[in-house]
Amino acid sequence: MTPPRRAVTTVHLGVTSAPGDISSTHHEPTAGTARPPSAPGAYHAAVNIVVTSLKGGVGKSTTSIYLAEAAVERGYEPVTLIDADPQASSAEWLELWPLPGITVVEAPSERTATRAIQRAQGLVVVDTPPGNERVTQSAVALADAVVIPTRAGGVEYSRVSATIELIPKRTSYGVVICAARLGTNDLEAAIAWWKEQKVEVWGVIPERVSIAAGPEARLSREGLENYDVVLGRALRGWR
Ligand SMILES: Nc1ncnc2c1ncn2[C@@H]1O[C@H](COP(=O)(O)OP(=O)(O)OP(=O)(O)O)[C@@H](O)[C@H]1O
Ligand SMILES: [Mg+2]
Repeated sequence: MTPPRRAVTTVHLGVTSAPGDISSTHHEPTAGTARPPSAPGAYHAAVNIVVTSLKGGVGKSTTSIYLAEAAVERGYEPVTLIDADPQASSAEWLELWPLPGITVVEAPSERTATRAIQRAQGLVVVDTPPGNERVTQSAVALADAVVIPTRAGGVEYSRVSATIELIPKRTSYGVVICAARLGTNDLEAAIAWWKEQKVEVWGVIPERVSIAAGPEARLSREGLENYDVVLGRALRGWR
């Protein structure tokens, strides 16, 4: 961990309840940053969870929304969702169905995304565009944990491997198998395959209409429970 450049001994991620404070000297806060009421006497730092895969349509935006809400439910504050995808699916989702406690920042380019990640505080979830290596690389370079949504059947493993190759060596990452059909051979085979590749599976999210519902409905309780497990894995080492 990099020592702080200022006279800051402990940097807390503002947490109002459950998980306890994360002590970190990770990101120096930007000048003029106010001290958050939830972490008196401490500067606010960020923990960045980047949700990414070069492959499209695997569940990145859904995963980002659910992780952000799972963080709110754990008591993290502030929780920021940075949407680095010009399609703006997660920003639109939250515009249509705002979730109290989540601030959305639209940052649809490499430059704006980098700046947004550097400036954000608290628990930060970054949704990324598919097939954009530059944005992906810039985002994962600033990540504390990288969540890679994937599918069980017909997954292009090479696209996931290419995504993993962009992640800095010491940054933790795991795949999340989205829209999984529980109890199928496909799912078992996928889990076994990741194990063989020595890639951690941070979660299995069942295929559910309620999770696919998007901004037309409230978030699914089952989805939130499953994504809470993923959040726990992503935050391992930070709490
Ligand atoms: N657990 C799930 N059960 C059922 N459907 C799901 C689940 N998770 C995601 N989906 C559906 O899969 C589709 C792709 O999801 P999503 O938009 O989150 O992927 P994405 O990786 O962000 O796509 P893109 O690459 O276009 O940004 C959507 O229709 C979404 O509703
Ligand atoms: Mg998306």
